[in-house]
Amino acid sequence: MKKRTALAVALVAGGLALSGEAMAETPSASMLANTCAGCHGTNGNSQGPATPSLAGASRDYLIEVMEYYKTGERASTIMGRIAKGYTKEEIERIADFFSKQAFVPAKGQEFDSGLAKKGAKLHDKYCEKCHADGGSSSEDDAGILAGQWTPYLKYTLADMMSGKSHMPKKMKKKLKKLHEKAGDAGIDQLFNFYASKK
Ligand code: HEC
Ligand code: HEC
Repeated sequence: MKKRTALAVALVAGGLALSGEAMAETPSASMLANTCAGCHGTNGNSQGPATPSLAGASRDYLIEVMEYYKTGERASTIMGRIAKGYTKEEIERIADFFSKQAFVPAKGQEFDSGLAKKGAKLHDKYCEKCHADGGSSSEDDAGILAGQWTPYLKYTLADMMSGKSHMPKKMKKKLKKLHEKAGDAGIDQLFNFYASKK
């Protein structure tokens, strides 16, 4: 395995043997993505609660968030540093790769079904417009919420609400309304709803 990777790197670096751009790009995209797999899991389905799954997110979403990490518009523990190590073109290729992988909901997450039901209603009213299909869709380039790791969602939303991370204006408006009506309990109901996706 190690040998083969080293050989592939040598081939790409030297521009040898691989004729035609398509052939050179394919191994390169998955090789680049392999550097993310240690934390984000094989094919972008993370096994750890503080690290989000990337699989199935839209290409544009992934590119945008990497840019936010680079500029510091999105708060992070490590992604700020990691994102700076990649060119725009490399990020586009990585994003392309992960967007084509199938999203697998986080395994074994606990939730309260009563709270999840209330959360579903809140989601429909305040979030569904941009996070379609109960937060499962990536069509609006807004990130997958349903089946994402709850701890990750919690601190990401907290950073958005405190102003540490970028948040779309319209989302901010909706979230404010939700928070005024339903309070922290409402936010908790949402997390239960997203965790209920199996
Ligand atoms: C050392 C572990 C680690 C590595 C390696 C890593 N990540 Fe991350 N990633 C994280 C963590 C942790 C977060 C949550 C933000 C933070 O705290 O930095 C994250 C968040 C993200 C997010 C946000 C996802 C979302 O749903 O909003 C994207 C996109 C991302 N990483 C892409 C990548 C890509 C692409 C690579 C490879 C080039 C990569 N990461 C490598 C740990 C890692
Ligand atoms: C007007 C469209 C819109 C609405 C409404 C909206 N969002 Fe978002 N949301 C987005 C976009 C776009 C992003 C990604 C861009 C960014 O990070 O700034 C995002 C990102 C997120 C993220 C981070 C996802 C990740 O994987 O890191 C969370 C969590 C989130 N939204 C929760 C919510 C909740 C909860 C609601 C309902 C109260 C909501 N959003 C309503 C557009 C919206």
